[in-house]
Amino acid sequence: MSVKTVATKPYLDQAPGTSGLRKKVPHFQQPNYVENFVQSIFDSLEGFAGKTLVVGGDGRYFNRETIQTVVKMAAANGFGRLVVGKGGILSTPAASALIRSLGAFGGLILSASHNPGGPDGDFGIKYNIGNGGPAPEKITNAIFARTRTIDAYRIVEAPDVDLDKLGQTRLGAMTVEIVDPVADYRKLMERLFDFAAIRAMFANGFTMRFDAMSAVTGPYAKAILEGALGAAPGTVINGEPLPDFGGHHPDPNLVHAKHLYDLAMSADAPDICAASDGDGDRNLVIGRGMFVTPSDSLAMIAANAHLAPGYAKGISGVARSMPTSAAADRVAAKMGVSAYETPTGWKFFGNLLDADLVTICGEESAGTGSNHVREKDGLWAVLMWLNIVAARKQSVADIVRAHWASYGRNYYSRHDYEEVDAAGANALMGSLRERLPTLKGRRFGALTVAEADDFAYHDPVDGSDSARQGVRLIFADGARIVYRLSGTGTAGATLRVYIERYEPDASKQEIETQTALADLVALSRSIVGIEQHTGRAEPSVIT
Ligand code: G1P
Ligand code: ZN
Repeated sequence: MSVKTVATKPYLDQAPGTSGLRKKVPHFQQPNYVENFVQSIFDSLEGFAGKTLVVGGDGRYFNRETIQTVVKMAAANGFGRLVVGKGGILSTPAASALIRSLGAFGGLILSASHNPGGPDGDFGIKYNIGNGGPAPEKITNAIFARTRTIDAYRIVEAPDVDLDKLGQTRLGAMTVEIVDPVADYRKLMERLFDFAAIRAMFANGFTMRFDAMSAVTGPYAKAILEGALGAAPGTVINGEPLPDFGGHHPDPNLVHAKHLYDLAMSADAPDICAASDGDGDRNLVIGRGMFVTPSDSLAMIAANAHLAPGYAKGISGVARSMPTSAAADRVAAKMGVSAYETPTGWKFFGNLLDADLVTICGEESAGTGSNHVREKDGLWAVLMWLNIVAARKQSVADIVRAHWASYGRNYYSRHDYEEVDAAGANALMGSLRERLPTLKGRRFGALTVAEADDFAYHDPVDGSDSARQGVRLIFADGARIVYRLSGTGTAGATLRVYIERYEPDASKQEIETQTALADLVALSRSIVGIEQHTGRAEPSVIT
C-alpha cells in the first residue's frame, strides 16, 4: 500500500462556521477541496498516531464519496483504526455517542444538518474532539489558518472500502471497522429512559407520528420507537434516508414540517407528533393541539428530567444559547441550580458539560440535549418527552399549561430574513452596533430600551472569550429583541431576529404568539431599518 503526497493549492474560503464547513455540493466537488480541508484538520491535531477516528454522515449526496476520501487519508496520516457507520450512516448524536464509548481520538461528521441535499444541495464536514463534541474555536481557527497555507495532502492508493458490509478490514496499518450505526445509540437510550413505562403506554393505545424527513433518523426511530418501544407500525414516516431527502428541506420547523403541525391540530391528532432533521440532532415536539416551542421544551425538560431514570439524581445546571428564551432560567432558579447563557452553537456547551456544571442544554433552534453526548439530540428529546408523559400520565398540552401556570410563559418567536444581500445585512448589523450606546434609555411607544449590548461570552472553564455574538435590546419590562447573522448559511446572508416577552399572568397565556409579540415585531423591523437594508418587508420564515 503506497502513501502518496499530492501537491495542492489553498482555497481561501474554508472557514468553519457555527457548525463546521458548509458549502454547496458542487463547491465541495472542486479538485482537492475535500482533501485540503481534511488534511488541514489532521494537520491541526496532535498525537493521533495509532488512535481511533469515527466517521459517518447523514447519508446526503456526496456522503459516500467523501467517506472514501477520509478513509484513505486517515490511513495515510497514521490513524490506527477508523470506525464507520454501515452505509456511511451515523446521526450526529450517534457519532458523538460512538466517539465517547470507543474512547476515540475524534470524529468527522459529514452533514449540512437541516439544509437541503442532492447534487445542488448543501454538504458539510465537521470535526468533533474526543469528548464527542464539536471542536472548540481554538481548533477550528487553527484548521482555518492551515487551509490558507496548505500545499500538500497525504492519501493511500487503494480500492474503495465496502461501506455496506459489517466487519473489519485493513487498509495498510489501519483497521477499518464498519459498525451498526444504531446499536450503540439504542443501548444508551435504554439506559437513560424508562423503556418499560413507555412501552406500556404504547400498549395502552398511546399514538404517535414521527417524521424522519427521509433523513438519518429513520433507522434509529424505527428500531427504537417501533422496535424496542412497540409503537404501532407506520408510526415512523419517511423512514428511509435518501441522498436528497426526497427533495424536501429536512428542517423540522413549522414551515417544513407544517403537515405535522396540521395533523397535531386536527380532529384525529395522535397523542404526540415529532420530527428530527437531516442529521438527527434537532427535534420538533407537538402534543395534540399544543406546539411546544424549543425554548419551552428546554425549560420543561429541565423541570421534569428527574422522571427519567438516567437523570433521577437531578440535574447540575442548565445552559441555553443567548437567543433562546429565558424560560429555562426560571426553572434553574426555582431548582437552585445554575443557569448559563452561551453564544449560539452547540460547541459552547461542551466545556460546561465536561465540567459537570450543567446536565441539560438547549437552543431555540430546535436543539435540546444533555450530558449523555456532546451534541444536541433529536430522538433523545422525543424520548424524554415520551418518558415525561408516561411518568406524569398527563397529555403534552396539560404539562405545558401546568408549566406556564407555575413559571409564567415566555412568548417567543424567531423571524428569519433568509438569503438577503450580504452587504446590506452587514451594514444593518454595523450601524446597529454603532448606535448601541445611544439606544439605552430611549423610548419607542410603550417600550423603553433598558439595555443594549453586543453579547460577549467568557467561558468559565477554559477562560476563553468570544465577542460580537449578537446584539441584544432588552426592554424595561424584560421583553427582548436579539439580532444576529447566521453562521451556517451557504448563500448570501441570513438575518435572524429573536423576539421574546414574559407573561406571568395565567389568564394571558393563551394568546396567539405573533399577536402577543406584535408591537415588538413591528419595532424589530423599524428600529434597525430591515427593509431599507435588505429590501425585505417581511421575514421569509417565522418559527
Ligand atoms: C443555526 C442555529 C444554531 C445552531 C446551528 C447548528 O446556526 O441558529 O442555534 O446551533 O444552526 O445547528 P446559525 O445559522 O444561526 O448560525
Ligand atoms: Zn442538525
